[in-house]
Amino acid sequence: QQFTAVVPAAGVGSRMAADRPKQYLAIAGKTILEHTVDRLFSHPAIERIIIAISKGDPYFASLPLASDPRIQVVEGGTERADSVCAGLAAISDENSWVLVHDAARPCVRLADLERLVTAALQSEDGAILAAPVRDTMKRGCRLHANKQQSNYRHNSGLQGITETVDRDNLWHALTPQMFRVKQLRESLQQALKEGAVITDEASALEYCGYTPLLVKGRADNLKVTQPEDLALAGFYLEQLIK
Ligand code: C5P
Repeated sequence: QQFTAVVPAAGVGSRMAADRPKQYLAIAGKTILEHTVDRLFSHPAIERIIIAISKGDPYFASLPLASDPRIQVVEGGTERADSVCAGLAAISDENSWVLVHDAARPCVRLADLERLVTAALQSEDGAILAAPVRDTMKRGCRLHANKQQSNYRHNSGLQGITETVDRDNLWHALTPQMFRVKQLRESLQQALKEGAVITDEASALEYCGYTPLLVKGRADNLKVTQPEDLALAGFYLEQLIK
């Protein structure tokens, strides 16, 4: 059985504050997007990758990826979910499985892809890679003015702690996330239409009452977001490529 992957790569990467979107920054000899594509194709059942790029993207066309026959490009949208929908629209077989993977996660390992695929194929509602939360989790709140309290408390802009959240069942959602094309497409459309907050694919399925599975993945499958993530991702990639 063969699968398609959709890679949303239409973000601007404003938190990186670089001269180009983060997926086009080079680490360990290649752009982040090229590493990401290589990692996905390391799985023998991933035969095709649909990449959503932003309108007028001046970077993609100069990459060797642009002439790879296994790759198709679509125009992304305003939000990540719109970019994913654009990618899904290019898949004709509604009953096939799709993996959605962030362009900015170049360090995903083959063993994690294999565990995800195995779990998803046996699931009702798909599966996602996820990492258990390690730190103690706090819920913050805005502080209200109170005459008895210090000015620092009022004016610092810092939040206060209201509670410690039980971390036993808390996970970081990673990608890839793997679903049946029809179920994912319909869930995203309904969630977007009804204005639900959708920050990954699983959140659309949850919104529609489905229960995707959590598959434990490695925490080093990081999403390159801030400038300091580049060195870390470079280090992990050197280990992977060796
Ligand atoms: O911004 P964030 O890091 O959450 O983006 C995750 C992924 O979604 C990135 O690979 C980014 O390029 C992609 N994205 C997209 N279309 C958007 C916004 C983000 O394809 N409109």
